[in-house]
Amino acid sequence: MSRLLVTGGAGFIGSNFVHHVVGNTDHHVTVLDALTYAGNRASLAGLPEDRVAFVHGDITDAALVDELFSEADAVVHYAAESHNDNSLHDPRPFLDTNIVGTYTLLEAARKHDTRLHHISTDEVYGDLELDDPERFTENTPYNPSSPYSSTKAGSDLLVRAWVRSFGVRATISNCSNNYGPFQHVEKFIPRQITNVIRGIRPKLYGAGENVRDWIHADDHSSAVLTILDKGVIGETYLIGADGERNNKDVVELILQIMGQPADAYDHVTDRAGHDLRYAIDSTKLRTELGWAPSFGDFESGLSATIEWYRDNESWWAPSKDGVEAFYAEKGQ
Ligand code: NAD
Ligand code: DAU
Repeated sequence: MSRLLVTGGAGFIGSNFVHHVVGNTDHHVTVLDALTYAGNRASLAGLPEDRVAFVHGDITDAALVDELFSEADAVVHYAAESHNDNSLHDPRPFLDTNIVGTYTLLEAARKHDTRLHHISTDEVYGDLELDDPERFTENTPYNPSSPYSSTKAGSDLLVRAWVRSFGVRATISNCSNNYGPFQHVEKFIPRQITNVIRGIRPKLYGAGENVRDWIHADDHSSAVLTILDKGVIGETYLIGADGERNNKDVVELILQIMGQPADAYDHVTDRAGHDLRYAIDSTKLRTELGWAPSFGDFESGLSATIEWYRDNESWWAPSKDGVEAFYAEKGQ
């Protein structure tokens, strides 16, 4: 049994990972989470206390991080400011958490020689044309567009430098867009599902031609466990499940599954600098480490996610009005 420290484990993907670890391994998990607007203790409710401990704290707190690293066999680093629209409104917290926070963890990993897995995003590679035959690979040059993706790119480069210069035992993964339970209602899919539940028309940025490569959060979790288990130190692995869809198709599918007319949505102001298309080639992870996704069918994964939001209104309702007020101010 290993002792895992999971930063950002009260957020969307981090909490899905903690549930996955408890259900599929005998590891003990300590979650370190600052409980920003995006963190929610309720996402960890019901997990056994002898398997999961929670520490309320900030990854930029070097003394706390040092203490927690001294007690961990491995660290999985999810904590981040994660929303592009917020980064366009107020970039500063993205620099603090994504850059300084990752630096703080790297210094602790160096001191304690702790195995670290850094969670990153496909957005570090910029975007693709709709008809580009090539997808992102581990060799695609970095070209981030937003304050969010540029700080994630910066954090990846810090990890690479600490591996090369100080021998830190780290790996990196860059994953595509996740969907599933426990995702904050500021994000595209939960926003539209909860809009329909509330009787609000879904909001599509611009023409809705932008393509995202969807993967269920549980598949992201199994990929991260695979990398922790078999990944080669210093290597980067791209995680994706061949789930490309444009935003217009996703909104229309949500409306159809929820029994609404497929055209019952509004086009709203586009995102500044909006990336056109992300697409992941995950051949390296599949062939070298033997990983494969379990959620092959986006439509059934999406239906289950819709059911989860219908069944868990008390989880998302406290955030909904504030998020919609924020978007309304921007014409979105
Ligand atoms: P999220 O915003 O839902 O959760 C982030 C969590 O980090 C929250 O619980 C928050 O409280 C915590 N946090 C933020 N700042 C902190 C700090 N300074 N100290 C401690 N905790 C802090 O994010 P998410 O969507 O779950 O993303 C998790 C990670 O996965 C991020 O690193 C993100 O870049 C990456 N990622 C996300 C996606 C996606 O589709 N959402 C895809 C690929 C990669
Ligand atoms: O690709 C991985 C990234 O995916 C992660 O690194 C980010 O943390 C995560 O937030 C996500 O980034 P996106 O910007 O792609 O996700 P978002 O849910 O904000 O938007 C998805 C698409 O939907 C994007 O093209 C913008 C569009 N959109 C979004 C919202 C909130 C809309 O059309 N309407 C909306 O209301």
